[in-house]
Amino acid sequence: MPLISFVDWRSIGLAPWLAFSYAAPLMSGRPLYPHRHLLGIEGLSRPDIEALLDTAQDYVALSRQVEKKAATLRGRTQINLFFEPSTRTQSSFEIAGKRLGADVMNMSVSSSSVKKGETLLDTAATLNAMRPDIIIVRHHAAGAVNLLARKVDCSVVNAGDGAHEHPTQALLDVLTIRRAKGRIEGLVVAICGDILHSRVARSNIICLAALGAFVRLVGPSTLLPAEVERFGVEVASDMRSGLAGADIVMMLRLQRERMSGTFVPSVREYFRYFGLDREKLSFAKPDALVMHPGPMNRGVEIASDVADGAQSLIREQVEMGVAVRMAVLEALARHLPNG
Ligand code: CP
Repeated sequence: MPLISFVDWRSIGLAPWLAFSYAAPLMSGRPLYPHRHLLGIEGLSRPDIEALLDTAQDYVALSRQVEKKAATLRGRTQINLFFEPSTRTQSSFEIAGKRLGADVMNMSVSSSSVKKGETLLDTAATLNAMRPDIIIVRHHAAGAVNLLARKVDCSVVNAGDGAHEHPTQALLDVLTIRRAKGRIEGLVVAICGDILHSRVARSNIICLAALGAFVRLVGPSTLLPAEVERFGVEVASDMRSGLAGADIVMMLRLQRERMSGTFVPSVREYFRYFGLDREKLSFAKPDALVMHPGPMNRGVEIASDVADGAQSLIREQVEMGVAVRMAVLEALARHLPNG
């Protein structure tokens, strides 16, 4: 089936961000990130995003050196509070905090008082009393991280809340694209698969649009949000037309833990129609690059030879995750007392 809709994102409400005049002071020649928290990409201006990307670019270089340490967060306490499983996000926030000199505590919810019925807000108040400087939170409920941020005195970073936002994933994705393609403006980015349940998709749609990319969502109608056009994106329900002319193919995980019913007939059918294999990838531009936020389900949303192939950026995404999280921690540290 051909593309079923097209709406220019510039006409529907994202443009005011870009028109927003950036009057923040300059630090080291770069605009100062003006927020105390990072709760989502929504609400960030283009200069906010670009300032984080430019700082992250410097941290890529630092992370490739033998000596990887900076003193930006020396004396600061960072708590990683993850109510959902994570490999990439939690470990990269831990590495990022340690590289910047922070004392990092990983709080294991599975062995915490949450298991005895303690509420999110009581947990937040308890941790707040220990005077952390930054808390990184992942939670299964959309909005939980914003709520927690209102109850603590320190800076808060959203490490993924339900199907709402995953801002550092979007930042690392656009940094990966910018390094590989040299720009974001004007690129066609096809985001494919389970859009409905994906906080990664939502944050990326907002971030890519703010930086001037054209976003196309590709997936079965059961996995596209209602009124998807209001995001100001192209929509396709067929991989071959959806990938036509794409510079970037961003695959998403089928998030069965968030599904309360049957959204796809079977995993085999799903792979046949929406899994990325070499044949479907051939419809994108010859120099198209493939991304996946992880964790990957090989043979469900992506074929192994594509995931591991020459067009794949998946390992670079993981590397950029550390650099972006260092940049975010540094940006928030400037808002701390004596920061
Ligand atoms: N992409 C991502 O959020 O991965 P983790 O669930 O492993 O953190």
